[in-house]
Amino acid sequence: MAMFSATPFIFLKANFGLAIILIIAIFFTSNIHAISSKTVIDSPLLTQKIGTNRTIKVDLNGDGDFTSIQEAINAVPENNSQWIIIHVRKGVYREKVHIPKNKPYIFMRGNGKGKTALVWSMSSIDNKESATFTVESPHFIAFGISFKNEAPTGIAFTSQNQSVAAFVGADKIAFYNCAFYSTHNTLFDYKGRHYYYKCYIQGSIDFIFGRARSIFQSCEIFVLVDMRVKILGSITAQNRESDDNSGFVFVKGKVYGIGNVYLGRARGAYSRTVFAKTYLSNSITAKGWTNWSCVGSTEHIFQAEYKCYGPGAYTIARAPWSKQLTEEEAERFMSIDFIDGQQWLPIWM
Ligand SMILES: *[C@@H]1O[C@H](CO)[C@@H](O)[C@H](O)[C@H]1NC(C)=O
Ligand SMILES: *[C@@H]1O[C@H](CO)[C@@H](O)[C@H](O)[C@H]1NC(C)=O
Ligand SMILES: *[C@@H]1O[C@H](CO)[C@@H](O)[C@H](O)[C@H]1NC(C)=O
Ligand SMILES: *[C@@H]1O[C@H](CO)[C@@H](O)[C@H](O)[C@H]1NC(C)=O
Repeated sequence: MAMFSATPFIFLKANFGLAIILIIAIFFTSNIHAISSKTVIDSPLLTQKIGTNRTIKVDLNGDGDFTSIQEAINAVPENNSQWIIIHVRKGVYREKVHIPKNKPYIFMRGNGKGKTALVWSMSSIDNKESATFTVESPHFIAFGISFKNEAPTGIAFTSQNQSVAAFVGADKIAFYNCAFYSTHNTLFDYKGRHYYYKCYIQGSIDFIFGRARSIFQSCEIFVLVDMRVKILGSITAQNRESDDNSGFVFVKGKVYGIGNVYLGRARGAYSRTVFAKTYLSNSITAKGWTNWSCVGSTEHIFQAEYKCYGPGAYTIARAPWSKQLTEEEAERFMSIDFIDGQQWLPIWM
């Protein structure tokens, strides 16, 4: 580097014009290098990749096209076939929002997960009914929004008190820099191929569940304590029931919080969850995984780790059926191809 910065100085004396060109060239070269090695997916980059000029603005104070997110969604034409941005300005939007099956290609863009929040409070015996946010159309992307279910925590492990923050029930859905807040059953990752990038997900019991095929890239998982729980809760409850291609893959994130939980419980006999290159704090119990409620053989349960680290990553007391993957075994889960991302994601890491 010292050599490069000295070079333009010499030229400065000899040829001012050439020196300027050199300085610019060096500036650009180093800049390009910085971009390629440290790319951050942010709102302008995502917007550019999606590339549309159709925008609906939502503003709580009336300075947009609508004051409610649902009204903006209602304004998207049925069977929409081109990307449309619903820009949700900062504020706390207190409403339940539903994107129906026939409204694909919506890009819901917030001002950041600390600024734009969608909040409702409902607990129900029915997970889907309790959800603050429900998306049932394919081709949905969100950036920079918090999804929150504020319902007070009910009696632990009763099936009457589900409180889902988001129900993700269609194919080709991605959340970038979003947050999901609840206690019990926070993120219902129901079905389809999904990508979560730099998201924050918090909860106490089974708080990421469903039978989707998903990659959680660089996500932060925060464990809450529930003192009334007699048996330990789990971060995930993946619900694969046969040899299909669903599964949850966590890559390069971190897991921490208050309390003691399993990484996952097998909710189906073929339940599949992988934590790879993830920091695991003391919040993870030494056994790591549980087959609780999955009566019978553990032969087909795929509960696996790959190169995790931190005080919760010791493998010595892990459940006997759980796996520590080799590089070769981990390869298919470490690639965006696990969700065919190259075919449908605007951008990924
Ligand atoms: C948006 O872009 C499309 C095609 O790229 C173009 O046909 C249309 O006129 C544009 N609309 C506006 C409002 O700029
Ligand atoms: C949308 O598509 C469905 C299914 O193809 C069709 O039944 C419906 O009439 C369409 N709606 C509009 C407004 O075109
Ligand atoms: C949770 O469910 C129990 C049992 O049905 C009920 O008594 C309690 O009111 C519920 N709590 C909440 C916060 O909904
Ligand atoms: C969990 O697996 C163990 C064998 O590792 C078995 O003894 C136990 O019965 C299983 N639990 C259930 C609920 O089936």
